[in-house]
Amino acid sequence: ATMAEEAKKLAAYAAVDNHVQNNQAVGVGSGSTIVYAVDRLAARVRQEKLNIVCVPTSFQARQLILQHSLALSDLDRHPQLDVAIDGADEVDADLTLIKGGGGCLTHEKIVASCAKHFIVIADYSRKDSKVLGQQWKKGVPIEVIPMAYVPVCRTIVRRFGGEAHLRMAVSKAGPVVTDNSNFLLDWKFDGAQNWREVNAAIKMIPGVVDTGLFVDMAERAYFGMEDGSVQVRD
Ligand code: 5RP
Repeated sequence: ATMAEEAKKLAAYAAVDNHVQNNQAVGVGSGSTIVYAVDRLAARVRQEKLNIVCVPTSFQARQLILQHSLALSDLDRHPQLDVAIDGADEVDADLTLIKGGGGCLTHEKIVASCAKHFIVIADYSRKDSKVLGQQWKKGVPIEVIPMAYVPVCRTIVRRFGGEAHLRMAVSKAGPVVTDNSNFLLDWKFDGAQNWREVNAAIKMIPGVVDTGLFVDMAERAYFGMEDGSVQVRD
């Protein structure tokens, strides 16, 4: 495995080992780092005969849970989760996150909001920054109702600067469509902002479903480091 993959694994294993216990309901995030967390969860369930239920944050997470024969649940049955574990695109010094690189930000934020403890896992590269925007150069993902994407883009740029673009499929044949059948904007901002206020203001724009800004949600982040150690931020 490459060093970055090894680092993802280290962070994921540390989070699962430190935060998951028997008889818990666990929120399962999305992305490439969470794959290692689900591997670890499945291994521990087998070895320690843990009784755990998992609530997914995306189609991908649901597939991972099913493939590992973990118990699949939902927020109807488990509206209170003991812990949620997820990746992030960027984590700043205050544990404010940019998420949604994979487009699952709305479900991820809902699941994180239902968890007593929300734990972030990431590799050292590209993720750790003092000020949001230092590392993740693609901007803040924002999920929008399709018919509103042009006015939402214009309003965000007028009020907060930068530029906002509709996220297109790799083929360029059309826009990326979320698990909720919505579109995604990527808003490239300039400079530091008051993220709590910006998040609240963007959420109020008609047509916005949610933003990839996670303010005051994460309790702790685990960074897998290049030298094989794990750095904790909380
Ligand atoms: C998806 C996300 C992911 O958690 C984020 O993109 C991190 O992914 P990866 O672990 O592959 O770096 O927010 O919406």
